[in-house]
Amino acid sequence: MYVLGIETSCDETSASVLTGDFEVLSNVVLSQDEIHAPYGGVVPELASRQHIKSIDIIVGEALSRAGVGLSSVDLFAVTQGPGLIGSLLVGLSFAKGLAYYFKKPLAGINHLEAHIEAAFLENRDIPFPSLALLVSGGHTALYFLEQRLSYRLLGKTRDDAAGEALDKIAKFLGLGYPGGPVIQRLGASGDPGAFPFARPRMKDAPLDFSFSGLKTAALRHIREAGIAKDGPRLADFLASFEEAVARALVGNLSSAVDEYGPQSLVLCGGVARNERLRARFQEYAASRNLPAYIPSPKMCTDNAAMTAALALEKFGAGIPFATDLDLDAYPR
Ligand code: KG4
Ligand code: ZN
Repeated sequence: MYVLGIETSCDETSASVLTGDFEVLSNVVLSQDEIHAPYGGVVPELASRQHIKSIDIIVGEALSRAGVGLSSVDLFAVTQGPGLIGSLLVGLSFAKGLAYYFKKPLAGINHLEAHIEAAFLENRDIPFPSLALLVSGGHTALYFLEQRLSYRLLGKTRDDAAGEALDKIAKFLGLGYPGGPVIQRLGASGDPGAFPFARPRMKDAPLDFSFSGLKTAALRHIREAGIAKDGPRLADFLASFEEAVARALVGNLSSAVDEYGPQSLVLCGGVARNERLRARFQEYAASRNLPAYIPSPKMCTDNAAMTAALALEKFGAGIPFATDLDLDAYPR
């Protein structure tokens, strides 16, 4: 059995071929970072136009690297939402066309579930119940996983997502886009304790996140200490801000562990590539004697292998798919 996954929720055009036993035969990701970098963030209209230009090339490349022909694909999987509506529609329309022509089922996949699936794709034996911390450019959320394919939302961000906060501070300082990797690189040599940040806490919902307060505190430090792109304290400031974001994330995870007593911990989403966050997460898990799972860096950011894997998992669980040409994209 072969599954072809397609992912175009934001600014990566990706296609991937998996075998029925979750072997990733190909996972091609074309980033649009260079297109959006001059604007300091994703420009939705440019993103969807670029997806239109790239989609058939990327799908063709994924099939050829896998050595699989389109007519051998048994199941098509595509990100249905959440994401940028124009971008989603490109992948969805393309996948519908393929499923219709080849008369094969089409699975519409939730992008957030797919990010969590990335951890299971690389670790088939994660113990349940598990707590998953999902940290991406657009979402920051904590889920309780009772078993496979069961997700209970425990907390989410009230304002910015963690990745968005990193991206905005990087943009403000003129460091480029995406902000997370730049902050990691330029802050690597800095002192994470140089600038104080208070941990954000939501009194009424302690598992919810908020990054607007950290962002405001960061802007105040920038103003008061005269932080600038080529200034001497840039590395210290970036390390401190990154540390504050990582600690805020792990802080909520820790509260959820106290309340829910999971058997394992999962960290996923694009910001899970961040080395400081990975380290804080691992340290915390070790301190609680919990097995911890983080996808490999390439599996953290948007890619179609996780989309295909989730479709395969659902298919294996007996969830029926048809070639549904009414399938619609949803932005949130
Ligand atoms: O999950 P993702 O690829 O896209 C969404 O679904 O949003 O996440 C993209 C986010 C961006 O905000 C980017 O700055 C962040 O992931 N990111 C990182 C790193 N690599 C990507 N953040 C911190 N450190 C990194 N190394
Ligand atoms: Zn994503």
